[in-house]
Amino acid sequence: MAEHEFFATCARGLEPVLHDEVRALRVRRIEQQVGGVRFAGALEDGWRANLWLRTAIRVLLRLARFACADQDELYRGVQQVDWRRFVRPDGSLAVDAQARETRLDHTMFIAQRTKDAIVDQLRAHAGVRPDVDRDDPDLRVHVHLWRDRATLSLDTSGESLHKRGWRRSQGRAPLAETLAAGIVALSGWDRRAPLLDPFCGSGTIVIEAAMLAGNVAPGLLRTFAFERWPGHDARAWTKLCEAARGAIALPRKLRIIGSDWEAERIAGARENAAAAGVAACIELDVADARKFAPRPGWNAFVVTNPPYGERVGDARELEATYRQFGERLRTSCGGYRVALLSGNPALRQALGLVGMESVELWNGGLECELVRGVV
Ligand SMILES: C[S@@+](CC[C@H](N)C(=O)[O-])C[C@H]1O[C@@H](n2cnc3c(N)ncnc32)[C@H](O)[C@@H]1O
Repeated sequence: MAEHEFFATCARGLEPVLHDEVRALRVRRIEQQVGGVRFAGALEDGWRANLWLRTAIRVLLRLARFACADQDELYRGVQQVDWRRFVRPDGSLAVDAQARETRLDHTMFIAQRTKDAIVDQLRAHAGVRPDVDRDDPDLRVHVHLWRDRATLSLDTSGESLHKRGWRRSQGRAPLAETLAAGIVALSGWDRRAPLLDPFCGSGTIVIEAAMLAGNVAPGLLRTFAFERWPGHDARAWTKLCEAARGAIALPRKLRIIGSDWEAERIAGARENAAAAGVAACIELDVADARKFAPRPGWNAFVVTNPPYGERVGDARELEATYRQFGERLRTSCGGYRVALLSGNPALRQALGLVGMESVELWNGGLECELVRGVV
């Protein structure tokens, strides 16, 4: 079977988590890099990566690397690929270009020239050429130039992998599903102890935790770009998805509890959990986190993302919430493990938790810290 090179991208800070996930896929030549993880495998391994990786944002298939100091080298290099394998002549495509420290540095021109090379090749074979479609192309090509070398990749995912297909309700400032999965992993949760999110909003953290514990593949409810490629082996892909469905084992005794003080958020979280197929293993209640009082001696994990003033609420008002929540943690949750994502250092101070470790994570464009440790 032909060996391909893939690159799974992720939010900055989650590379070690993604690295562990890729290792679990049992692929080859795994290498952690800034912003993602490289690996090698058969085309099917790329499918499995899309289906199973919880923290990856997209999976790129690296097609070619070549010297590229000018537009002619670019054109020739792109034409070396047999594009009939990836897009029908009457299909659609989009090209994204990036350039750094390179002679050919006009990204719009690079994208245009790459597109020309692809469509000229297909027209020469078939007499028709694909259209450009920026929004929903059959094929998205990435071309990356660095120091006069080009790397050509295909996006195998399509829509960002944080779009699992279960979200019905947004809440106010939902975490990306990929980041929520990353936080659950970074909390060190063992999938057995109770997991609590007292600021659960639309339920992203508790839903991702339940999917992890129940071995639910995060990609089962959506489609991927590679399904549109000509020659895609739909039967083999269906078999893989069926096997993933058969591997689901929702935990019965596990306690995963989300709460929020807004009833509307809890209703939305319920809808989301039902759509994700994990409603049976999540408890959702309306409750004020300032009065957080879980069962003592429970050895639970508190994994949460309180508001931090950037998008929800005002930082000054929130300081009191953090102070009171921190106090509840210190007085009622001795021995619990906490993993709390916040984008505001002053608010983190207000928690009054000592001896906590801090992990830098990026939430969209916002630098955040995951405060974690034992209370
Ligand atoms: C940043 S959002 C959490 C988003 C959530 N992680 C998601 O993915 O949807 C913070 C949530 O905390 C809730 N909240 C704010 N103050 C609260 C309090 N005192 N008790 C409980 N929930 C509170 C808000 O209603 C909001 O839904």
